[in-house]
Amino acid sequence: MNGIELCATGCSLPTRRVTNDDMAKLVDTSDEWIRSRTGIGERLFCQGGETTTDLAIGAARDALERSGVPVSQVGTCIVATMTPDWASPATACLVAQELGLAQDIPCFDLSAACTGFVYGLRVAQGLLTPERPYGIVVGAEALSRVLDFTDRTTCVLFGDGAGAVVVHGVPDPPLHAVLGSVGDLGALNLAGGNTARETYLRMNGKEVFRFAVQTIPTCIRRVLDEAHASLEDVDWVVCHQANERIIDAAVRRLGASPTRFYKNMERYGNTGAASIPIALDELVRQGMLRSGMQVLCVGFGGGLTWGGALIPYRHQKRS
Ligand code: UT7
Repeated sequence: MNGIELCATGCSLPTRRVTNDDMAKLVDTSDEWIRSRTGIGERLFCQGGETTTDLAIGAARDALERSGVPVSQVGTCIVATMTPDWASPATACLVAQELGLAQDIPCFDLSAACTGFVYGLRVAQGLLTPERPYGIVVGAEALSRVLDFTDRTTCVLFGDGAGAVVVHGVPDPPLHAVLGSVGDLGALNLAGGNTARETYLRMNGKEVFRFAVQTIPTCIRRVLDEAHASLEDVDWVVCHQANERIIDAAVRRLGASPTRFYKNMERYGNTGAASIPIALDELVRQGMLRSGMQVLCVGFGGGLTWGGALIPYRHQKRS
């Protein structure tokens, strides 16, 4: 299977809505500062017993049901997350168990921070077979669990949620994707649970901002070059939803029209690995991403990591 198509999307969102004014009760900030610097208006946080695993299961189930694909034809389940509930078992194993997927398929979590979903698409493509040509790729985060609510430079930016896609392995066209990383502990870090270090997310926002603004156009150009395509051939560009100003700056650098660059951070904040699949799901539900369209997903984030993938959307509800 050289290529993949998106055939269905799903999402699962926590129930607690937290506005910028709510954040201003916790730290010295304001709705005006957050909106003007990031484009974020509100975010959703897990409450009570809601977990990353619950969100991942909900999003994967939603996508699988909407695809109509029988569980016997699913060849892999990958969950991209930097906030798993467990180091082991992997979230993906629990998702597979809940959904009743076959037991002889690889299911695992993938750690590439906010680029994890794009990495997951590329990895899924390599695992699909003619016998089991479908894969589930999930991005799921409960970032509110690792935010330092005394640090205004990070806690106002992030939110929780999960999005998922079902991909279909196809012989042709090949998947056009570029992935990369450069090790940088200071740009964004989050210690694992067994390191005895603090388990808050820490970030040098300016450094990540500069990295993202350079990386998005480069990534888009490289994917398009590989596909012998231009931006005119792409119906939607879905970038990781970290900051509206990052996307706007990348659009300016590309000299592109902003209309095809989808943005929804206003309602969710930065949901890490979940932000791209949540955006894809919104586009599908709103009838804006339709069968036959091409979508270019672009991720960037901790690692530092980046990745871009050009994928056709071809809905094929089978039931
Ligand atoms: O998912 C990938 C990881 N994350 C990102 O992609 C984030 C990338 N970075 C960014 O989005 C931006 O760098 C931020 C939104 C984090 C910060 O925006 P900025 O325009 O780079 O602001 P800044 O760091 O230069 O801070 C400007 C001022 C500072 O005050 P002084 O030093 O000028 O007096 C900050 O202390 O804004 C202050 N500030 C705040 N003020 C009100 C920082 N955070 C806040 C806040 N509310 N929440």
